[in-house]
Amino acid sequence: MRGAGRQQVDEEFERIRGACTRGAAPKGGSFPEWTRDGIESLEEFFDGTAHLWDARFGAGYEFLHAATADQIPSTDDAITILDVGCGTGLELEFIFERAPHARITCLDQAPRMLDEVRRKYADRRDQISLVEASCLDWPPGLSGFDFALSILCLHHFPPDTKPRIYSSIRGSLRDTGVYIEGDQMVLPEAEAEGLALFEAWIAKLPSGRLGAWNYDISLSVETTRRLLLDAGFSSCEQVYDDNDDGTNRHAVLVAR
Ligand SMILES: C[S@@+](CC[C@H](N)C(=O)[O-])C[C@H]1O[C@@H](n2cnc3c(N)ncnc32)[C@H](O)[C@@H]1O
Repeated sequence: MRGAGRQQVDEEFERIRGACTRGAAPKGGSFPEWTRDGIESLEEFFDGTAHLWDARFGAGYEFLHAATADQIPSTDDAITILDVGCGTGLELEFIFERAPHARITCLDQAPRMLDEVRRKYADRRDQISLVEASCLDWPPGLSGFDFALSILCLHHFPPDTKPRIYSSIRGSLRDTGVYIEGDQMVLPEAEAEGLALFEAWIAKLPSGRLGAWNYDISLSVETTRRLLLDAGFSSCEQVYDDNDDGTNRHAVLVAR
């Protein structure tokens, strides 16, 4: 599909989305109408759409990729960075602008997302390591990073599953290491609504609590900060907010 027009990309994207959609909400509950169509298997969705990802989302999230990468100091040093849920590596170009000699370990469970990173950054082959793994099944040997970051990935996990991921991230950093999270967030009053739908529907699907479904569990900045501090970070500061007042808010948090 490379070089395809936007309409072709959108049509193919929707075809793939449809092919991996299942798990409709149980009948009889007071579920929103859209839940009747079901939800995509997350692994199938991301792996299946990897080749369309940049054409569909590349420009739309530059603001968040830039705001997250901006937390990394401009340096010529070969700093080490772990990117959790790297996708096609859209954020890497922003990171390399600030730290051209950075060594980045890209972790993602979708092999085709990693294929895109490999293809796009072939000229930086010696600076990038690819790790195909789930952040819930943390691979051994990821340690001593100067920075870890995660963009638009962790909103797929409920609050009781995130501590395990945050602890793994904390453990992969050196003592003075910094974790940067750029993600969808919601105002505290909207958080409960999303969680209630998750508990009534997604949590009851197979591996529902383990990020198996492409459902967005956007938490508030306050809840995210609490989870990060509980996981062993000693401080957590919000450094960016797009000030959207609805459910599609985006924020960047820095935890040390
Ligand atoms: C919305 S994409 C974001 C990708 C990239 N960070 C960006 O901002 O463009 C989310 C990515 O998280 C990955 N992901 C989801 N669950 C994961 C898990 N349990 N372990 C590792 N990666 C996961 C998906 O495969 C996908 O590539």
